[in-house]
Order: sequence, then structure tokens, then C-alpha cells
Amino acid sequence: MSFPLDLDLETLRRRRSEKWVSYPADVLPLFVAESDVAPAPPIAELLSAAVANGDFGYSADADGLRDVVSQYYTRFGVEAAPGDVMPVYDVGVGVRAVLREFLTPGAKVVHHVPVYMPFPAWIRRSGHEPVGVPFAEDGSINLPAIEREFESGARAILLCHPHNPSGRIHPQSELAELASLADSYGAIVVSDEIWAPMALPGHEFRSFLAASNTARKVGFAISSASKTWNLAGLKCAWVVTGNRAQYTLPPYLAGACGHLGSLAARTALTEGEPWREELIAALGENVDLLGRLLEEHLPEARWTRPESTYVAWVDLRAYPALGDNPAKRFLSEAKVALSPGAAFGEGGAGFVRINFACNPELLTAAVERIGEVARGAV
Ligand SMILES: Cc1ncc(COP(=O)(O)O)c(C=O)c1O
Repeated sequence: MSFPLDLDLETLRRRRSEKWVSYPADVLPLFVAESDVAPAPPIAELLSAAVANGDFGYSADADGLRDVVSQYYTRFGVEAAPGDVMPVYDVGVGVRAVLREFLTPGAKVVHHVPVYMPFPAWIRRSGHEPVGVPFAEDGSINLPAIEREFESGARAILLCHPHNPSGRIHPQSELAELASLADSYGAIVVSDEIWAPMALPGHEFRSFLAASNTARKVGFAISSASKTWNLAGLKCAWVVTGNRAQYTLPPYLAGACGHLGSLAARTALTEGEPWREELIAALGENVDLLGRLLEEHLPEARWTRPESTYVAWVDLRAYPALGDNPAKRFLSEAKVALSPGAAFGEGGAGFVRINFACNPELLTAAVERIGEVARGAV
């Protein structure tokens, strides 16, 4: 069992976040993208001091965060000035703000399917029309399908990079082609990079903005410390604008950033690297473990090892008795909560998403339990 994924169930059940209150105590929760990590020590110290001091006021840290994010993004191949960074409340707010500011109301916005569930809702809430396109047969970005949508009037693509739920890090060559395509239609590319610091062992993440000069011209990268350091409830994210001369976001966005979220994010990016490395090593071990467990308990399951994220996208269609929604049966019969594939849109029926950012003992128990249901399924 390796730090920081070594917390036991009793400790975790004292949490009151979504992962731990959504189901009764006999259910193992491996659904929502929260991780079961012990907090990074510098963040825990920062937050304990803030609590002791009642430091719960408004955030006044936008400039500090801008400096830190602009430096941090160099590791993803992007030279951004602090002024290119806009702190925002969360990634969803950042996505909606960009779409609202820079697209004509009602314009079509393309996204791949299956994808992180709120994408179509975010697009609708910004006053636009979502259009889902499947990935190409080989799993790559579907440039011909995207071009067809641009031809019929779409003016933006909302990219998930790395992709949730598949964990794919899109190669820079594909991103450069996407950038050229978008540019030729006067479209923008909004790259949700919330999982950027989570490349798994053997993989490297580079931002969409690093793909080419054209990518910078048409692109926005939106990221946060919230997935990697498990800070989602503290509310802080940021937009990195590739082309600030053309696209300027309204400064009021920074005012809604969570005060503790901003301080914690800054600490994560400046002092959280040793902890992040330990997390990535532990997750690498969990991916290997998950592979072995699937082979043993669900031998007909198909999956591609994720290159990033802490979620695995598992195809269970070779178990027809489990039906279109295996997660439903796993919940009622195995007392294991997974994310149902269909929630990720077209192409997701018969799949489940497994969150493997947990103690290996929990992961083992969960896969053993769902394996038993799959074996007995009629
Ligand atoms: C791709 C992606 N974007 C955004 C989010 C959520 O971001 P936020 O809570 O900052 O809106 C998640 C959460 O899992 C995610 O996977």
C-alpha cells in the first residue's frame, strides 16, 4: 500500500464529500472523480493554519496565482505571461465564460463522445448548441467529422485533453492538425486540461497550446489543481489564453475564485511536486493492479490502459447479460458504485468508468465483487 493512496475505509467514510455520502456505508464508491488521497503535507499545513486563523474572506490572490500558473504551464510546453492567465471559480465556469464571450449566441460547439458528462450541458448553459462526434475508428481525433460540423456552421470545439473517460493524451501532431482546421473556419478550440498534471508513468502531457503557433492563435487551455491534489471543493481553476491580443476575458471572473482554493492551488503548484510524484507512482501501480484484476475476474472485459487521469474506461459488452447499464447491476448486486458508461453520451452503453484512485485493497475488493456478478449474470 503506498502513500498517498493508503487511507483505510473507516477514515475515508468520515469524509462528507459527494463520493462518501451518495451511497450507503456498504457500497464501495469508485465513481465520481475524487481521489482517496491523504492530503499533500504543504497543502494540509496551509489549510490548517487558515482554519486556525479564521482566514475565510474573499480571494485577493489573483496576481499570485497568475504568476505561478504561467510558470507551471512551461512544463506543458507553453510560454504564457501572467496576463494570459485568468483565475476562475472552476473549469466549468471557465469553459462557459470563453464560449459566452467569444462565440455568437446559438452557435454549434463540437465535442467528442463519449466524454465527461457535463460537456453538452455546459455548452447549452452558455447559450450554444452541443454537437457530439465519435472518435475515429483508431481512437484518434475525428478531423473529418469535425470538419463536417465546421462546414455546417460550428465555430468551436470543446476538447477534453487528456480525455475523460478514456485517459488518452492526444498527440501534438493531431492537435496541430485540429488547430489548422479550426483556424481555416475561424473557429476556436477550448481545451479542458484539468487532468494536465496527471500523466501516468511512461507518458508525457503537452498542452493543446503547445501544438503549434496556430494552436496558440485559436486556443484556450483551462486547468486546475483540483483533480491532481483533490481540491475540487475549494473552487479554483484558470484559463490560459493563447491569443490575448484577440481574446480578452472579463477581469470580474477572477473575483469568484475560492480564497482557500486559490491559496491551495498556488501551494500545490509550487510545493506539491514531491507528493504529486508519489501519487503518480501509486496510480501507476494501481493501473497494473487493475489490469491483473480485470484479467482474473472479468476476462472478457476490454480496455485501453489510460495514459493520464485516474479513471479506466472498461467495455463490458462481451457480457451481454449485464445489459446496457452494467453499473446498475454492480450497484445493486455487488454494492460497488461505478459511473455508468451511457452517462458519457453516445457510444457509452455497456461500458463502466472505474475510478482507481483508491487504496489497492479497495480496488481489489471492488473488482472481485463485480467479477462475481459478471460470472453469475444471466
Ligand atoms: C474533464 C473534466 N473537466 C472538468 C471537471 C470538473 O471541473 P470543475 O469542477 O473545476 O468544473 C472534471 C471532473 O472530473 C473533468 O474530468
